[in-house]
Amino acid sequence: MATTVDPRTPTMTTALEIVKGALCAVIGFPIGKSTIGSRISEGNKARITVKTGKAEAPTAAQMQKVVDVVNEAIAKDQACFRLTMPRKDAESTYGSAMYDVVEPPAQVEELSLLYIEGLVLHSQLHPCLPSTGPVGKVSVTKQKFRVNKQELEVMFDVEPSTDTPTDDTATPPQCVPPSAETVVLLNASEARVSADDGVEGGVEESGKAAAEGGQKVTPWEVEADGEVDYEKLVKSFGSSLITEDIVARVERVTGRKAHRFLRRGLFFSHRDLTQILDLYEAGKKFFLYTGRGPSSDALHLGHLVPFHFTKYLQEAFKVPLVVQLTDDEKFLFKPELKLEECHRLAFENAKDIIACGFDPESTFIFSDLDYIQHMYPVVLKIQKLVTYNQVRGIFGFTESHNIGCQAFPAVQAAPSFSSSFPIPLGGTPDRPCLIPCAIDQDAYFRMTRDVAPRMKLRKPALIHSRFFPGLQGPGGKMSSSTESSAIFVTDTPKKVKKKINGCFSGGQETKELQELHGANIHVDVPYQYLTFFMEDDDELKRIGEEYAAGRMLTGEVKKILIEILTKMTKDHQDARAAVTDEMVRSFMAVRPIDGSGAAAGNVVPPPPP
Ligand code: TYM
Repeated sequence: MATTVDPRTPTMTTALEIVKGALCAVIGFPIGKSTIGSRISEGNKARITVKTGKAEAPTAAQMQKVVDVVNEAIAKDQACFRLTMPRKDAESTYGSAMYDVVEPPAQVEELSLLYIEGLVLHSQLHPCLPSTGPVGKVSVTKQKFRVNKQELEVMFDVEPSTDTPTDDTATPPQCVPPSAETVVLLNASEARVSADDGVEGGVEESGKAAAEGGQKVTPWEVEADGEVDYEKLVKSFGSSLITEDIVARVERVTGRKAHRFLRRGLFFSHRDLTQILDLYEAGKKFFLYTGRGPSSDALHLGHLVPFHFTKYLQEAFKVPLVVQLTDDEKFLFKPELKLEECHRLAFENAKDIIACGFDPESTFIFSDLDYIQHMYPVVLKIQKLVTYNQVRGIFGFTESHNIGCQAFPAVQAAPSFSSSFPIPLGGTPDRPCLIPCAIDQDAYFRMTRDVAPRMKLRKPALIHSRFFPGLQGPGGKMSSSTESSAIFVTDTPKKVKKKINGCFSGGQETKELQELHGANIHVDVPYQYLTFFMEDDDELKRIGEEYAAGRMLTGEVKKILIEILTKMTKDHQDARAAVTDEMVRSFMAVRPIDGSGAAAGNVVPPPPP
């Protein structure tokens, strides 16, 4: 008589868990509430259906990477921990990260959780193996993606190991429950492991692909045929758009109105911002990191965008800030600049940055030339993990770039890790980092985020702004390398007026035509500048409507803008004049900035400029 063997063996249940964890890590969707169902059949076959929340099917490279991650976890024979805990405790610590789409019935008061480090935390009633090794080998046999439901079904076979026989009766190992923040990381909605040995978000394509789409955005070049297509950039870089829900959440968490750059979608894209908010709410404070490449004596108005926004973030979240001045980068990339000059410009630019009003107690500004020894160990560890082929793909370097350029990206990556700041951040090994910048800098951080898991460090989160346009109009950014495109914070009221009066306008040639057709406010430089620097939302809306409808003339809009910019540059110049060399030295002294107080032995003043 034939006997029916229950195919749901601990080996198969464990295999399902590993596959689920790998799918989340590679495709990038949360572990919680994403499993729709699973089935195990005779012959060591299984299928799992998950909700990826992605509009597109995973690529072949991603599916291959999933298999690799699964088999690596098996080869490492990772422990499969069991934790039993009251349901209410689990939910208050982990939210719904351990649930499938269908949660256990309300009467279940205690949960049995399976935890495999770096992969999965799951409420699992069925017995699992004590470790992953005996699962042997997993091969994916088929996959189906339902676009309309964003569901992925994966079928796979398991060949249990003969070397590591299964002891189904062994007691599963116990562990200290993982921290809320560890689980927040597992529950991320972005890929934690990139599919192409290279870098996340199709980074290898960045310069090339974007160029093919009629626009090119790299740290050194921003070029578009018409307006920059920001949604396309988000797609090709693999970041996420900032939604109204996220803005509302930032307001809730900080208890204040969002900065106008955020309310108006000027900071429009992010990576892992929601994770930063989750961690912040769970009591884990992040640090802010931003920077400037000192290539000119003064900043232009575009540079003020990330710095004004960073000041708001520092105040709203009450967190420390590190500001990198990449004098080394500018020396390497700008043939005409001397090293001593870049170092001097760093000190000068620090004055403009301080003039933005950062908190002296919790802000550390550093020149790479002065600070490099403190972060060199981190720089080296990054350099060892990135190949020439990778930086070539990411940054478009060729054989003719000097070797300093090719090695530099690791220097901009290093401050994303709190271990680069043993004194300023008090040696906290893995503090979350949020980087505000315009989207041109993203390439550096795609590389950083790719190496982070391999260094067992947390990926930095990012919040990206659009470009403050150049005076010449759409298709580029305000840039100090194109003098005619920029208004500098040092410009006199007369210069500001002259530049604005001569800038590109989306208004019509004559008064009559303007009254007839109205202005194209999407490309109109004066109106675009107002969206960045006019505080009053209602007034901005009124001007936009009147100007677009032809009831306002370009001259009137320019006049309003000139008033705002004249005041802004004057205020900035006054604030900068009040910044003494002594103040710059104190912002640049290597000292604790994390509320721990400046212990006497922990202050290293910077060398003189
Ligand atoms: P740099 O000096 O080119 O630019 C400094 C910051 O200003 C942003 N930015 C702009 N934002 C809006 N509109 C514009 N037209 C515009 N032009 C520049 C840049 O995105 C940047 O945030 N390699 C960097 C220095 C750096 C850095 C960092 C920047 C080092 N570490 C971390 C941001 C985050 C550079 O040369 O930036």
